[in-house]
Amino acid sequence: MALTSELGKQIKLKEVEGTLLQLATVDNWNQIQSFEAKPDDLLICTYPKAGTTWIQEIVDMIEQNGDVEKCQRAIIQQRHPFIEWARPPQPSARNAKDCMVSYYHFQRMNHKLPDPGTWEEYFETFINGKVVWGSWFDHVKGWWEMKDRYQILFLFYEDIKRDPKHEIQKVMKFMGKNLDETVLDKIVQETSFEKMKENPMTNRSTVSKSIMDQSISPFMRKGTVGDWKNHFTVAQNERFDEVYRKKMEGTSINFCMEL
Ligand code: A3P
Repeated sequence: MALTSELGKQIKLKEVEGTLLQLATVDNWNQIQSFEAKPDDLLICTYPKAGTTWIQEIVDMIEQNGDVEKCQRAIIQQRHPFIEWARPPQPSARNAKDCMVSYYHFQRMNHKLPDPGTWEEYFETFINGKVVWGSWFDHVKGWWEMKDRYQILFLFYEDIKRDPKHEIQKVMKFMGKNLDETVLDKIVQETSFEKMKENPMTNRSTVSKSIMDQSISPFMRKGTVGDWKNHFTVAQNERFDEVYRKKMEGTSINFCMEL
């Protein structure tokens, strides 16, 4: 499948087992499928735009005992390469509506992803799971169902936002670490949206403009809960809630749709 954006870019995607993927991922598919985690590997398993970068930075800050300089050693994509490194999985979820909004703006600025089209068009694309990396519903439901069967720590973006120290403490315990209160407070401070937006090791400012054009939409865009209210119409919201109920039926997961 090839999608052409209004910028003239041709983005080639391929559907693998029902999920749209970039060609580079498709090339690696066999390797990804045969990946076996070692007992002390740690995998971060997020849906796009759920706060991947945020949890990556939190994990590294804990790993480095709150040493800010050590966390400056490389850009986040190098400190946490996608799929090649792994401990037990740690999915992090964010409510679907804010994910959709964030992903829409990300596709506008990321020239390696298809152009999202209008917001109305994107709304349909997203609820049908026809975005790169697949359906939010399948991702979240899948991990939610696995969470008690394996050594998995399931985190919510909204919880980290509401009480970062408490959630960071959970990650710390999961990682088998025991850090002082002062170190924890420092990690909370250093992983705030404001700090990470200014930090060249986390804000993607080192990525070329031909790949990510932050003048269209910054990578660290808003970092808030509930921005969907500035995008969804009342009718879209009703339709979304109906789709959500159907797709997430049978799960005990409560994503606080009133967020
Ligand atoms: P918004 O577009 O809603 O602002 P990912 O890293 O998975 O691509 O997710 C990016 C989203 O997480 C963006 O959301 C970004 O602003 C938000 N984010 C990144 N770091 C954050 C932080 N420290 N606090 C809150 N939100 C953060």
